[in-house]
Amino acid sequence: GIVILDFGSQYNQLIGRRIREMEVYSEIVPYNTPLEEILSKKPAGIILSGGPSSVNAADAHLVDRKLFDAGIPILGICYGMQLTAHLLGGKVTKGHKGEYGKSELEILRSNPLLTGVSRKSKVWMSHFDEVEEVPEGFEVSAKSGVIAAMANEKKNIFTLQFHPEVTHTEEGIKILENFVHNICKAEKNWKLAGYIERTIAEIREKVGDEKVILGLSGGVDSSVAAVLIHKAIGDQLTCIFVDTGLLRKDEGRKVMENYGEHFHMKIDMVDASERFLSKLKGISDPEEKRKAIGNEFIAVFDEESHKFEGAKFLAQGTIYPDVIESQSVKGPSAVIKSHHNVGGLPENMKMKLLEPLRELFKDEVRKVGEELGIPHHLVYRHPFPGPGLGIRILGEVDAEKVKILQEADDIFIEELYKNNLYEKVSQAFVVLLPVKSVGVMGDERTYEYTAVVRSANTIDFMTAEFSKLPWEFLEHVSSRIINEVRGINRVAYDISSKPPATIEWE
Ligand code: XMP
Repeated sequence: GIVILDFGSQYNQLIGRRIREMEVYSEIVPYNTPLEEILSKKPAGIILSGGPSSVNAADAHLVDRKLFDAGIPILGICYGMQLTAHLLGGKVTKGHKGEYGKSELEILRSNPLLTGVSRKSKVWMSHFDEVEEVPEGFEVSAKSGVIAAMANEKKNIFTLQFHPEVTHTEEGIKILENFVHNICKAEKNWKLAGYIERTIAEIREKVGDEKVILGLSGGVDSSVAAVLIHKAIGDQLTCIFVDTGLLRKDEGRKVMENYGEHFHMKIDMVDASERFLSKLKGISDPEEKRKAIGNEFIAVFDEESHKFEGAKFLAQGTIYPDVIESQSVKGPSAVIKSHHNVGGLPENMKMKLLEPLRELFKDEVRKVGEELGIPHHLVYRHPFPGPGLGIRILGEVDAEKVKILQEADDIFIEELYKNNLYEKVSQAFVVLLPVKSVGVMGDERTYEYTAVVRSANTIDFMTAEFSKLPWEFLEHVSSRIINEVRGINRVAYDISSKPPATIEWE
């Protein structure tokens, strides 16, 4: 396959996905992975990714120069190109203004990487430093405002200042295909059907006759993991589903229908709504609410799992981006929100982990889910945070507010589906503010809560923009919420992007 050395660019996972879409296995490893370890993977090619640092910085992220002499084709992207220039004797300088966004690429001298690419095309740039002088043996193959591509064809080293993995680069896929298929001649060995078969066999082998428990949330990852494991070992698997009372409308019933009845899985449903609500009483600070919910979740799950003392395995829906994130070299970024995920390992239980989706990107998990017969709308659900509606009801949470929010949220989501908008946005939901305002209904004065409709579009949830939903649609949603949900008399639309706002309100 292709090994991608991770220098911290937010586009890295996209490179990995693009390559897998070509049915070639790709793996993302930290840039400082020892050279022997990289070579032991016998990669058909190596990609040096983009990244936020500067090669001229004292603490620059570097690699062993010998990487370039290993006889393996190399593609350097953005920082990867600057790094190549820097290590092989070229010169990288701080540009005058940098380039962010679309640029025009002009090919000066084609090469195997740029075969079939138009002489002029649009590419996506995001850099401040630039290559001023190319190293010996290299030729400039394209320019934009700066040197946009350089290559040493003899040594099979190709580099680009722009990002071919981003859709804004018109012929980016063609370029990546040239690298993977023509230059690396990588074997097409990555097919999801094969993955499912192989994983089922591995699960059987690993688990034997032992029992497995899994924390099912109703979300995409834990559901696909559950169905896959169930397919492998049937009733040796029990799913624990904790109803925190902070879930979407009818979520508990739907999970039992979709996975219990339809797939015949054993699901142990715990109704813990009272417990969660009582822990949240009197708390209005967002971080305190998150902690209270997270701790209670662990407590409930822990107690529940004691019913299954005999179980040797704890299954989780960990996916490849979680793995990359945990091995990432970006360093601990400041805690903005304390995240918690469903199904954390109860510490005193000595269980082995079973994580059958560890190698898959989200879109691959979805394809596996569909292949296993999970309905399309379930595998294409938006993400839902662990603390649930607890962080979408601003201020103190109580049962009445939960009910109000569930109804409003349900209307918004239903309308998104009806209008074919659900899959055009990345995440959508309603937030309930503890703010009351005056309205008029019929001839009567009302004094009720404000709901905020939120919808975001994003690739990686690290940055996001608000969805530009049609006015008529928003008008319809607003009127339905105000007319149908007792307790809300005003609806606002959130037009903030992330940063500086975040997607959730707490
Ligand atoms: P923010 O609000 O930080 O959210 O822009 C980014 C993404 O993370 C989700 N999120 C969570 N997911 N547990 C989760 O599993 C959490 O505690 C949590 N907090 C936020 C959020 O829904 C969005 O998709």
